[in-house]
Amino acid sequence: MNIDAPMTLLGGRSAANFMKNYWQKKPLLIRKAVEAGHSCPLPPARLKKLAKQDDVESRLIWQENGQWNMENGPFSRFPKVAEPNWSLLVQSVDLHDDVTAELMQQFRFIPDARLDDIMISLASLGGGVGPHFDSYDVFLLQGRGQRRWRISQQTDLSLVPDIPCKILQHFAPEEEFVLEPGDMLYLPPHVAHDGISLSDECITVSIGFRAPPLAVLARGLLEVAADQLSARAGLGFGPYSTPALPGPDLSGMFRDKGLAATETPAALPEELISSALAAVQKIDFTERMAARFLGCWLTEPNSLSVFPIAEDMIDIEDVIDRNGSLQLDRRSRMIYRGADVFINGEALETKSNALLRKFADTRRLETRDLKKANAATLTLLQEWLDDGWVIAT
Ligand code: SIN
Ligand code: CO
Repeated sequence: MNIDAPMTLLGGRSAANFMKNYWQKKPLLIRKAVEAGHSCPLPPARLKKLAKQDDVESRLIWQENGQWNMENGPFSRFPKVAEPNWSLLVQSVDLHDDVTAELMQQFRFIPDARLDDIMISLASLGGGVGPHFDSYDVFLLQGRGQRRWRISQQTDLSLVPDIPCKILQHFAPEEEFVLEPGDMLYLPPHVAHDGISLSDECITVSIGFRAPPLAVLARGLLEVAADQLSARAGLGFGPYSTPALPGPDLSGMFRDKGLAATETPAALPEELISSALAAVQKIDFTERMAARFLGCWLTEPNSLSVFPIAEDMIDIEDVIDRNGSLQLDRRSRMIYRGADVFINGEALETKSNALLRKFADTRRLETRDLKKANAATLTLLQEWLDDGWVIAT
C-alpha cells in the first residue's frame, strides 16, 4: 500500500496524513469513504443467520419502557423489522465471512498487531446501543440505511450503574452527523458517541482496533522470562518457550555454607531473600523477549476460530505445477519481527524468512514466490496447508 497516495477511504487524505493528524487524536467524518454499492459486506438475512450459530458471538440490545435490555446469542428468532428500538450486534464477522475479511484489508496502513475485528450491527428504526465510549479506536462505516451519530469529547465518562449495557450517565453531544451508506466516522478512544438508526434495516460496520493494557504487556514479558528459565532448568514449558530463547544460567542451587546456628528457627533467612533478588537480576529483559510475548499473544487465534481442513490433502508441489498461489486463511494471524515469525500463536525461528515476511504482509504468495522458497520453507507451508491455516487458490 502506498501510504503517501490519496485514499478515497480517508476522504482524499493519504494514510500517512491520517495517521499523523487524526489517529488517536481527533474524530473524522469521511463522506463517501466507500462506494455505496460496496459499503455493506453482508445483507441483513446473512447477519441474522450468523447470529443463530453457536460459534459466533452476538448480542441483542433493546429498549423497553425506557429500560435497556441485553441478551447474548445464539438466537433462534429476532424481533420483527417493523418493531422499533432494537439492535443486533455480531462480533468478529471477519472470521466468518470472506467479503468482510476483505474489507478489513483496506485498513492495513495500520499494523495488524493493532487490528482487532469487524463488528456489524443491524438495527431497526430508533435502534442503537445508547450513549457510550469505547477504549479503542474505531471506524464506523455506514453499510445500509441511515444512522444519526452524535459525538462528544466530554471528560465526564461516568456510567449508569447496575444495568446490562455500558451507558453514559451524562451525555452532552457536541456534534451531530447523519451517515448515508458508504460514509464513515473515525473515533479515537474515549470519544463519547451515540448512534441511532433512522431506517428499519440500518447496518453499521465497526472496524475496531485493540490496544493492550500496560499491565498485560508487563505480565506477558514476565511470563516469557519465566518460561525461558523453566525451559533452561528443565522445569517444564509454558506457552512462550519454544523455540527456546537464550536466557541466564540459573542452573545452580542456593547455598549457605556460612550459615550460623539460630535461636529463631521460624525466621526466614535473609540470604534466601537476597539470593532470589540476585537470581532475578540475572534476567536480561530483551526486545526479543518482548517480541516473543507479543508475537505469540497477538496471533493467538480467536477462541471461536475453527480452521477448515481440506478433505483432500493439497500438495504444495501441485500448487506450483499448476501455477497456483497460496493465501493465508482469513482466520490466520501472522506477524514478524526480524528473524522471528509468529503465526496463530506459534513462534518460529527461520533463517531465510524474506518470503515469509512477504507472506505476512501481503497474505499471498504466487508460484513465482514459491519457486524461490527453500525446502524448509516449503515444508512449513505444506504443514500450514494441512492445518487449514493457508489455502491454495
Ligand atoms: C453500533 O453499531 O450500533 C454500535 C457501534 C459503536 O457504537 O461502537
Ligand atoms: Co461504540
